[in-house]
Amino acid sequence: MADKWSAGNSCTFATVSVDTTKAAIDPGKLPQHIAVIMDGNGRWAKQKGKPRVFGHKNGVESVRQITEAAAELGVPYLSLYAFSTENWSRPALEVNALMSLLVATIKKEIETLQKNNIRLQAIGDLSRLPSKTHQALLSAIEETKANTRMTLVLALNYSGKWDITQAVNKLRGASSEITQDDLAGALSTAGMPDPELMIRTSGEVRISNFFLWQLAYGEFYFTDVLWPDFRKQHFYQAILDFQTRQRRFGKTGEQLTS
Ligand code: FPP
Repeated sequence: MADKWSAGNSCTFATVSVDTTKAAIDPGKLPQHIAVIMDGNGRWAKQKGKPRVFGHKNGVESVRQITEAAAELGVPYLSLYAFSTENWSRPALEVNALMSLLVATIKKEIETLQKNNIRLQAIGDLSRLPSKTHQALLSAIEETKANTRMTLVLALNYSGKWDITQAVNKLRGASSEITQDDLAGALSTAGMPDPELMIRTSGEVRISNFFLWQLAYGEFYFTDVLWPDFRKQHFYQAILDFQTRQRRFGKTGEQLTS
């Protein structure tokens, strides 16, 4: 039987099957890159009287579901904000647990990535990650580099300010004036389309130093659902919402419809 889902506050009693929601998506208007701020793991765990790490562990199932959903739909790029440069200031126990969880998840999921033709990439200051995490990442990136169906980008020890700063440093000493294309080409996302849709879970409504440059014209979608509860149904709903937006890129609505 198809999963059932309550369709938000405006329609509390309606239930819509996950297949119906998926079928409503226009495959010709998919975002070419979706970025996700996976938030609310700690609160999810607290609600259950469990330690925060319990929330992160359960968040891995949401990562699996959303990666599968994106690949099935044909979204070419999916980026997940897994660890920000600011996350180092969390208690050491939690940071260590997150790093171990990353290693375990990468090792466990590598086969599924291969089977599904998904390429793994990572962006951020990876050299500062614990060496086990760094090594596991590098070997998964190497193993999956020829895969073509979708690119899954993990943002690790990443922040938008870090990215722009490292790009500027790369370009320092350029003999001519630096253009926007030069800067975009020096960012860690060089060669990827800019994210067209940014999803943030858990009711927080901010960008938290994620893709500061890349989201200049991204559409934002915020949901109260906590990350460990985020399922395919919610992901499809975010894409459907995206498909109702009129993207004007600075033009007037009339210019777009004329
Ligand atoms: C935010 O919730 C979540 C994180 C900082 C980490 C996300 C990590 C995972 C889902 C696990 C592994 C990921 C991959 C890609 C394998 P929070 O701790 O800030 O929650 P809170 O705001 O409720 O405290």
